[in-house]
Amino acid sequence: MTRIITVASGKGGVGKTVIAANIGITLSMYGKDVTILDADIAMANLELILGMEGMPVTLQHVLAGEASVDEAIYTGPGGVKIVPAGISLEGLRKVNPDLLENVLLSILERTEILILDAPAGLEKSAIIALASANELLLVVNPEISSITDGLKTKMVAERLGTKLLGIVVNRVTSSGIEMAKKEIEAILEGRVVAVIPEDPEVRKSAAFGQPVVLRSPNSPAAKAIKKLAAKIGGVEYREEKEAKETAISRFLRIFRR
Ligand SMILES: Nc1ncnc2c1ncn2[C@@H]1O[C@H](COP(=O)(O)OP(=O)(O)OP(=O)(O)O)[C@@H](O)[C@H]1O
Ligand SMILES: [Mg+2]
Repeated sequence: MTRIITVASGKGGVGKTVIAANIGITLSMYGKDVTILDADIAMANLELILGMEGMPVTLQHVLAGEASVDEAIYTGPGGVKIVPAGISLEGLRKVNPDLLENVLLSILERTEILILDAPAGLEKSAIIALASANELLLVVNPEISSITDGLKTKMVAERLGTKLLGIVVNRVTSSGIEMAKKEIEAILEGRVVAVIPEDPEVRKSAAFGQPVVLRSPNSPAAKAIKKLAAKIGGVEYREEKEAKETAISRFLRIFRR
């Protein structure tokens, strides 16, 4: 059975798109057949993070009845399949969100893992993304408002029959996170499966339209995201070798000639 994982939150801007994109790419590099669909139809930005904007056919066309799903599936970084939502305001007007469920059903036949980059909040397309999934990856920032809003999303998901795969605490800066992690688990009644640090490489990568796991694979955020992907995929996490040559290895290389 295809796994459908929705990456969702209560509050906006917590890091859902960054996490959905980068775990999708990592799982795909681990040999999984993964599709990421931008379910944030109104505020699509998965394609921007991946540097894949301007695709001729997007989910907007499919939801307007103008194209088939197959035409809107593209191969992205690391071999992951991407369904971009499209960022045109004009295109957005023609979209019928009620068609999203059928689109998701037809993608299921074509992939092993479907990752949904959900919109924030609990509007219609957010509910569809929660209801269509069988697993919820709940993203929160270590702030009380983000966590309480996350709780609402988790409760709605569970009422819709979607079980919590885990909580991801993103943009962590404090060193006292161990305590905060316990508090978060107590409030949300779930397990924290990843703690991702605040990392300037994430924003830099986004600005270049390059996923952080590829652009800066050894940055702290990329490592945490890759560990999370390995956990989700049930594969062993392996540290990548530092691409940069250290002073000692350079010295040895020169003198061993
Ligand atoms: N670990 C991190 N360190 C630093 N910046 C981060 C981190 N995670 C995300 N960001 C930045 O936070 C911003 C929001 O991230 P993102 O777009 O992934 O959030 P979102 O939850 O998808 O937002 P929305 O609800 O609007 O869809 C981006 O500018 C991103 O680069
Ligand atoms: Mg987003």
